[in-house]
Amino acid sequence: MQTHIKNICCIGAGYVGGPTMAVIADKNPHVKVTVVDINAKRIAAWNDEDVSSLPVYEPGLSDVIQRARGRNLFFSTEVEQAIDQADMIFISVNTPTKTYGKGKGMAADLKYVELCARQIASVAKTDKIVVEKSTLPVRTAQAIKTILDQTGNGVNFQILSNPEFLAEGTAIKDLEEADRVLIGGEESEAGQKAIQALVNIYAAWLPKERILTTNVWSSELSKLTANAFLAQRVSSINSISELCEATGANVKEVAKAIGLDSRIGSKFLQASVGFGGSCFQKDILNLVYISKSLGLTEVADYWEQVIIMNDHQKRRFAEKIVQTLFNTVSDKKIAFLGWAFKKDTNDTRESAAIYVADQLMDEQAKIRVFDPKVSETQMQTDLNYLNTRSEAENEALLKATEDPYQACKDAHAIAILTEWDEFKTYDWKKVYEQMKKPAFIFDGRRILDRKELEAIGFRVYRIGEN
Ligand code: NAD
Ligand code: UGA
Repeated sequence: MQTHIKNICCIGAGYVGGPTMAVIADKNPHVKVTVVDINAKRIAAWNDEDVSSLPVYEPGLSDVIQRARGRNLFFSTEVEQAIDQADMIFISVNTPTKTYGKGKGMAADLKYVELCARQIASVAKTDKIVVEKSTLPVRTAQAIKTILDQTGNGVNFQILSNPEFLAEGTAIKDLEEADRVLIGGEESEAGQKAIQALVNIYAAWLPKERILTTNVWSSELSKLTANAFLAQRVSSINSISELCEATGANVKEVAKAIGLDSRIGSKFLQASVGFGGSCFQKDILNLVYISKSLGLTEVADYWEQVIIMNDHQKRRFAEKIVQTLFNTVSDKKIAFLGWAFKKDTNDTRESAAIYVADQLMDEQAKIRVFDPKVSETQMQTDLNYLNTRSEAENEALLKATEDPYQACKDAHAIAILTEWDEFKTYDWKKVYEQMKKPAFIFDGRRILDRKELEAIGFRVYRIGEN
């Protein structure tokens, strides 16, 4: 097993595979990096000359792509060829929550990961290091190894766990200036060599002390734990936001007061309409499922509460809108600013906006959405996935506009669902003049200046204060 890698293949050209491999290629110009995917449309978009058409929107990504693409970074649908040529293969495919069978609604669906392992096993003719980049339940590496070792063709495989900690919207910065990189591997000599090979890749730009090595199981479990702790902070502050609204305390002041305690820290204490994104919920559900499977009921219940609180936060935001609009939103126009699950990304997976819209549509509200990076087609896909009503009904009740002022014109209320910076710069007086009166704003992200809006004439509700 060599410690200097020349050829990398990454299976999965999504939000993780694309940016991660772009940075690895950028920082290791002598390593050929090929990112493969079965989704030909996605690969074509990664290869598009016009970098504004990349399938993933991330600040700084297009610069990295322009530097490395065609030099040592390639995007392709030739999965088998890339596997064959690689010394190191990253598995970066999706691991969604299962929607069927045992563990439905909780366990991670590992069918895509298993397919990758089987494909690697059938194609490999030379020794390979296989790296789990996808977020996986603890002990998945064992299953991958068992599949790979069944080939009986004399090829040696080493499995490493190298979970990804980037956050969307800041992916390039998170990769280039990572707090830490985690690599889990076997304690055997071959395992240690494989770890060293991957350490060498990251050491091209990160100080050695930020590259942590552990056993495989610690690495797998650390990823789920990190996401669970992060999501728990959001649910904790959101639970306090409801208490603030009931007592006259202000969640911003409370967050600042506790965050200055260095043991608590100030990050990730922004009260919101609820966390979204493809991973927090799925990874916590996975942790809950594993704990339940091991008979650890109290552990499972403890973490499940983070999800219960998050669902409550989304629901109560929608209820607040209905209640404030004199208990009916039927046929009323409500403008949504933002659909993405956070700013600076075009990703909408599990976005709070989807659930708030769905609840308001149940009350027959007419929703008009403006999001700088999300298309109407994506919004409809997100709603249809919930299966609450027919596609035609979703299309009739929710429409997107390309202009925020148009979205807000004649609206009874505006709801801020994503914290896009540009929302702060709007001409709010102009918006006010074009709305139905009384004009309401529900700031689910606490980004607008309350005093300024009230001076214009708006009635303002912000999460976490009354
Ligand atoms: P994604 O859905 O954006 O991308 C996954 C890609 O894998 C898709 O394009 C899909 O077509 C492809 N794929 C699936 N099976 C394949 C196969 N057999 N062969 C080739 N391609 C295949 O997912 P993502 O957001 O990039 O997440 C990938 C993994 O990384 C997940 O396990 C996730 O939990 C983890 N993760 C995600 C983030 C994030 O910010 N999105 C951060 C850290 C970790
Ligand atoms: C998160 C983690 O931050 C990453 O470390 C991890 O790699 C990733 O999940 C993953 O495994 O997928 P991401 O979901 O992209 O990253 O974005 P976050 O910044 O964590 O935000 C998640 C959600 O929480 C967003 O909806 C955000 O608006 C919300 N949030 C975050 C708050 O409501 N308040 C906060 O203080 C922070």
